[in-house]
Amino acid sequence: MGIETDKVWLDGELVDYEDATVHVLTHTLHYGLGAFEGIRCYEQADGRAAIFRLGAHIRRLLETSKIATIDVPFGRQELENACLETVQANGFTDCYLRPVVFLGHGEMGLSATSNAVRVAIITWPWGAYLGEEGLKHGIRAKVASFTRHHVNAAMVKGKINGQYVNSILAKREVMTAGYDEAIMLDTEGYISEASGENIFIIRDGAIHTTPLGSSILGGITRDTVLTLAKERGLEVVEQRFTRDFLYVADEIFMTGTAAEVTPVREVDDRQIGTGTAGPVTRQLQEAYFDTVKGRHGDHPEWLTIVE
Ligand SMILES: Cc1ncc(COP(=O)(O)O)c(C=O)c1O
Repeated sequence: MGIETDKVWLDGELVDYEDATVHVLTHTLHYGLGAFEGIRCYEQADGRAAIFRLGAHIRRLLETSKIATIDVPFGRQELENACLETVQANGFTDCYLRPVVFLGHGEMGLSATSNAVRVAIITWPWGAYLGEEGLKHGIRAKVASFTRHHVNAAMVKGKINGQYVNSILAKREVMTAGYDEAIMLDTEGYISEASGENIFIIRDGAIHTTPLGSSILGGITRDTVLTLAKERGLEVVEQRFTRDFLYVADEIFMTGTAAEVTPVREVDDRQIGTGTAGPVTRQLQEAYFDTVKGRHGDHPEWLTIVE
């Protein structure tokens, strides 16, 4: 996929797309220590653009950096402003934002500490991550043979660049086998999450999802959907569950900034529910899109207008 964008924010200023380049000795390129985010901006009912949960994403970017022992040379407000500035400079109303904190070139070796900490923010239009068809009717998922990180082998609450090798291998494995998304088990064999999404199951009207205390990323979409579900009086259970619980679910969906709220119609070649998006999934998906697009004025605190 080509990236269509004009201006990139790099180390404090907007530069042309062609000039947003790095040296081959960039430390993060070699060893993976860095922090990144994925954020979406949506066109609102009144035609303006708003970034969804910008504060929460920048907070997580700085927390990931802290976990990764990286001192970011920009503060929270500066980074939020930079996101707004980049979207505005490109004239986007609907787009994806990718802030990335990385270690520049200079010293090599694992012990390097003197390399400049650099920050880039790239924005581009990005449609449904798991496809429009998947968003409507559900995707086919498979449990990958790769285990999700042990909580003391990787820092699972951080979006640390190098940790994504685990997700990419799982995703590639299941896509090669003809599926859309990989579900990963934790080191004890319980369901963890998908390669880039949190996972939810509906059974007998209750919504189950993996707890934050286990090997999952604390998804901001997960938090949004849990909030919306509770506001609608739905029962929420945050508890570990086993692989076979997926097979007997009435409905399954995945959440992520990129994937939004995507129904799952099949897991490991077993049809889930009626084999399409179920009623609770549809209700929450609709509530999600209404919220991010500011349709009913609910949760204005989650929307930062680009102006
Ligand atoms: C491994 C993983 N889990 C879950 C998520 C969902 O997180 P969020 O909803 O904050 O995008 C992501 C995406 O960032 C992810 O990479």
